[in-house]
Amino acid sequence: MWKFENPVQICFGQGVFAGLHKIIDKRPYCLVTYDEPYFATLSEALVSRAGKPQCIINNITPNPDFSDLSETCARFASSASQDTVIVALGGGSVIDTVKVLASCPDGFDAVRRFLETGHGEDQLASHPIIAVPTTAGTGSELTYWATVWDKTSQKKYSLARPELYPSHAVVDPELMLDLPKALTISTGLDALSHALESIWNHNSNPVSANHAVFGATEMIAALPRLTGDLQNIDLRSRVARACLFAGLAFSNTKTALAHSISYPITLKYDVPHGLACSFTLPKILDSVIGIDKDCDASLGRIFGPDLKAGVDDLSALLDTLGVSTQPAQYGIQGDEWAGMVATALGGARGQNFIGTRDRVLTSLTA
Ligand SMILES: NC(=O)c1ccc[n+]([C@@H]2O[C@H](COP(=O)([O-])OP(=O)(O)OC[C@H]3O[C@@H](n4cnc5c(N)ncnc54)[C@H](O)[C@@H]3O)[C@@H](O)[C@H]2O)c1
Ligand SMILES: [Fe+2]
Repeated sequence: MWKFENPVQICFGQGVFAGLHKIIDKRPYCLVTYDEPYFATLSEALVSRAGKPQCIINNITPNPDFSDLSETCARFASSASQDTVIVALGGGSVIDTVKVLASCPDGFDAVRRFLETGHGEDQLASHPIIAVPTTAGTGSELTYWATVWDKTSQKKYSLARPELYPSHAVVDPELMLDLPKALTISTGLDALSHALESIWNHNSNPVSANHAVFGATEMIAALPRLTGDLQNIDLRSRVARACLFAGLAFSNTKTALAHSISYPITLKYDVPHGLACSFTLPKILDSVIGIDKDCDASLGRIFGPDLKAGVDDLSALLDTLGVSTQPAQYGIQGDEWAGMVATALGGARGQNFIGTRDRVLTSLTA
C-alpha cells in the first residue's frame, strides 16, 4: 500500500520569472528576499509588473534562526492582511523563512510555542506561498516543512504543516546563472542527497523512487560539468530540473540518515547544509547495499549493477567537486564522530533510514 501526493503547481523554464505577476494576480503580496544587489534588481522588476507589495522583507541571511525570526515576523505582521500572499525569492533560507511567516498569526511567539511543544497548531495562520527558488537546491519549493534553527540552544526544528506547501513553484534557471561555484556545488549536493535519501527510506514508494532515480542520475551527470561552465544555461536547467525531481521524491518520504547526521554539524561547526548532508553519502550507500531489493534496484539504475563500484564513483564525484568525505575536515574529532552517528540513527530522520545500526557504524566509523 502506498500513495504519492504533491499539490504544488510547477512552472519551469527560462524566463518564467517574467510571468510571476500573473500568478500573484493583483492579490496583496509581501516579497521576501536577500539584501543583495542582484535580488534588489529582481525585486524591482517584479514590482514594476505586479504592483507595489504590502511589504518587502529583504534581510534574510542563511539558516533562519530563532534570533532573527521574532523581528522578521513582527515586520510581516505589521504590514500583512489576512489575504496576503507571500512571495519567496531566494534559496532554502528564504523559502523556509516564508513558511514561518505564513504561519505567523501576529508574531513569532505562536510558531515558537508550536515548534517547542507541538501544541497550538490551531492558533497558526496559513498564508499562501509562491516559491521562486534561486538555488538548486533545497527543494523547499515542493515540501510542506521548514527547517528552523536555534543556535543558542543548539537545536534544529522542523515546522511541518500541510498548509505550508507553496501554491506555486516558479523555477527559472536563468535566476541561478550567477550562483557562485561553491554554492552551486553545495546546493547541488543537497539535492543529490534528497534523491538518495528518499531511496534508502522506509517511506519510499514507486513514484518517489522513480523521481529520485531521475533526479540523482541527472545531478551526477550535470553538476560536475556545470562547475566548469557556470554560465551554461542548458546545464543550469538540467541541474534545476534534477533538483525538482529530487524535491518531488523527498516531499513524500522526507530525508534519512545523512540529513540526521548533518544538523549538529551545521549547528556546531557552521558547515553549509548541502555539504553537511552529502559528505557521508558514499559510506551510507556502502552500508545499505543488499538490505532491500527495491532499494538496490533503484540504486542500480543510478550507479549500475555493481553498487560497490557505485560507492567508489560517488566518492570520486565528491572528490572532483572538492568535497572531503572525512569528518575531521569539518572539524569533527574521532571520539565525537561515533557519538554523532549513533545519535543520528535515533533521530526523527535517522529512523526513516532502512539500514542497520551495525552496518552503519562499521561503514561510517571504522
Ligand atoms: N524545507 C526544506 O525542505 C529544506 C530542505 C533542505 C534544506 N533546507 C534549508 O535551506 C537552507 C539552505 O538553503 P540554500 O542552500 O538554498 O541557501 P541559502 O538560502 O541559505 O542561501 C545561501 C546564499 O546563497 C546566495 N544565493 C542564493 N541564490 C543566489 C543566486 N541565484 N545568485 C547568487 N547568490 C545566491 C544567498 O545570497 C545566500 O547568501 C538551510 O537552512 C537548510 O536547512 C530546507
Ligand atoms: Fe537538504
